[in-house]
Amino acid sequence: MCGIVGYLGPQNGINIVLEGLRRLEYRGYDSAGISVLGANGRLAVFKKAGKLENLRNIVSEIHPTSNTTIGHTRWATHGEVNDTNAHPHISDSMAVDDEYSIAIVHNGIIENAPILKKELIDSGINFKSQTDSEVFLGLLLHELYQAKSSKKADYMQAILNAFKRIKGNSAFVIQTTDDNTLYALKKGAPLVCGTNQRSRELFVSSDPYALVGMADKVFFPDDGILCVLNRQNSQIRFFDLEGRPSSKVASRDQEISMQVSEKGAFEHYMLKEIFEQPERIRTLSNYYLHGNGQLLLQKIAHHHPKQIHISACGTAWHAGLVIKNFLERFNRIPCVIELASEFRYKNPILSPEDLAIFISQSGETADTLAALDLCLEQKIKTLAIVNVEGSTLHRNANESLLIQAGMEIGVASTKAFTLQALTGRMFGDVIQSKKINSAIFDKFNLLADRIEELLRSADQIQAIAEEIYNYKGFIFTGRGDDFPVALEGALKLKEIAYVHAEGYAAGELKHGPIALIDEMMVNLAIVTPKLYEKTVSNIQEIKARRGIIVTIGPANDHHLQEISNYYIPMNYEGLDELIPLYANVVSQLFSYYVAKFKGTDIDKPRNLAKSVTVE
Ligand code: M6R
Repeated sequence: MCGIVGYLGPQNGINIVLEGLRRLEYRGYDSAGISVLGANGRLAVFKKAGKLENLRNIVSEIHPTSNTTIGHTRWATHGEVNDTNAHPHISDSMAVDDEYSIAIVHNGIIENAPILKKELIDSGINFKSQTDSEVFLGLLLHELYQAKSSKKADYMQAILNAFKRIKGNSAFVIQTTDDNTLYALKKGAPLVCGTNQRSRELFVSSDPYALVGMADKVFFPDDGILCVLNRQNSQIRFFDLEGRPSSKVASRDQEISMQVSEKGAFEHYMLKEIFEQPERIRTLSNYYLHGNGQLLLQKIAHHHPKQIHISACGTAWHAGLVIKNFLERFNRIPCVIELASEFRYKNPILSPEDLAIFISQSGETADTLAALDLCLEQKIKTLAIVNVEGSTLHRNANESLLIQAGMEIGVASTKAFTLQALTGRMFGDVIQSKKINSAIFDKFNLLADRIEELLRSADQIQAIAEEIYNYKGFIFTGRGDDFPVALEGALKLKEIAYVHAEGYAAGELKHGPIALIDEMMVNLAIVTPKLYEKTVSNIQEIKARRGIIVTIGPANDHHLQEISNYYIPMNYEGLDELIPLYANVVSQLFSYYVAKFKGTDIDKPRNLAKSVTVE
């Protein structure tokens, strides 16, 4: 979703902000812009629909300089994708005398924007865009003009007043003609400030990743905390909504481990991240068996919930389905799993002995955070299974397990899925035996070895994808433990290759979807030792209707190989409950290659965002 980067310091901030925006491209966006303080003492904006490159081109023609700069990548919610709707929004010609020159960037949704807009138009404010964001700027101007009539005009107070009037989750950064100050505040949307005391630079962003290597300390303000970044003393001060100094801010040194991720020899981040899985699995094992993770595990070993609720979205929800299977099979604890967007509105039946688990790569998914808040309000114990350290989910859940996936840049989540599921398995193992068992990590490392072998033969999957990427539709099937990965395979394929794909429990096909089968439909069948015969029968049903069968099945299974059009042999030996995670890597590669042959934008698929910070 929208990305925000702001800079104050001794350097020309333009390139610094553009670099920050480049790093946030992975979040998904459709236009980009920056605002600068011009030589005439007024703010100027440069903004362009499309890729960041378009913005860079206009900036490189004009060479603006500014010690204070804010930048934004927009992911459209209100108003089509065009230059006008891109951020920053600037106050020029919004009020009659244009006394103020203010620019704002926004991430989120102002839910009461239509009502406020009407009121502001009636009071003489002109709007230039179709966005909800501009309403905040209108409110701000309105507040300033009102205060001015009583000779008390004050940016800080006006910002707080305007902020109190909006509904919904949002983060804002506000630039004025005061070259020494930026203001930032948020509610339910990510915002981070950063400082570098040596270079006397200050930063603000929607994502700490933008600040890696720039800030050496980062601050995470609570909701409703106004951050005032001051260039003169290189300090950030924090205030509550009444304008009183506040300490409701978490801070930490910027993670050295959080390296800026580059693609290296890989053509896409997604492929790099698929190939990173063996290494990241071993990192997870080391971290929890020998590293700092031991303490985290010891802390949660006491859990013995009567029931577990799992909430997550998208791929993280699929990981939740895998974890539910683990917990029910090995711990015999009943698990209820809900999409976070449903859980938050359904008045879930929760009891004090329950545990609620939230799974998220980014730790910033709006629906997942809302589901977390609901449980926190009801005093239900909460556990996050999360990748991004310092994210809202990581900070706000009662306890957290970090999945050790490292930065995931590709919009399609791959390694995070595998590591979320393994973290869930590890959690179940620890609460079952009340201690850390090395055996579970041996199994994880065996999975890492098997994935490594599979990746060495990725070419066979590429060859299959090349032959069938133009087929009409793809149905992924699996039974029992493999059903969640059938869903995950279909999601991966549709999001990056833009083809119709569905995941089904193999036994369900004859209850409807089999009507779709003809010689242009592909069935990717996940066949593993459990329920083997049943799944093979389902394959026969599809074959009888001339569907194309791609089987992910046991090595040396000649019969299965014969009835399949394409066969991917797997070595399931010793993996037991981890088999679905191993088979899923085939689907990841298959989706990647189909997308590659289709020529889509694999790392930044259309309409999608890496971190979904609006509901
Ligand atoms: O950051 P999260 O794990 O909370 O994100 C949840 C979903 O938005 C995410 O998994 C999405 O479905 C991915 N694009 C799937 O590849």
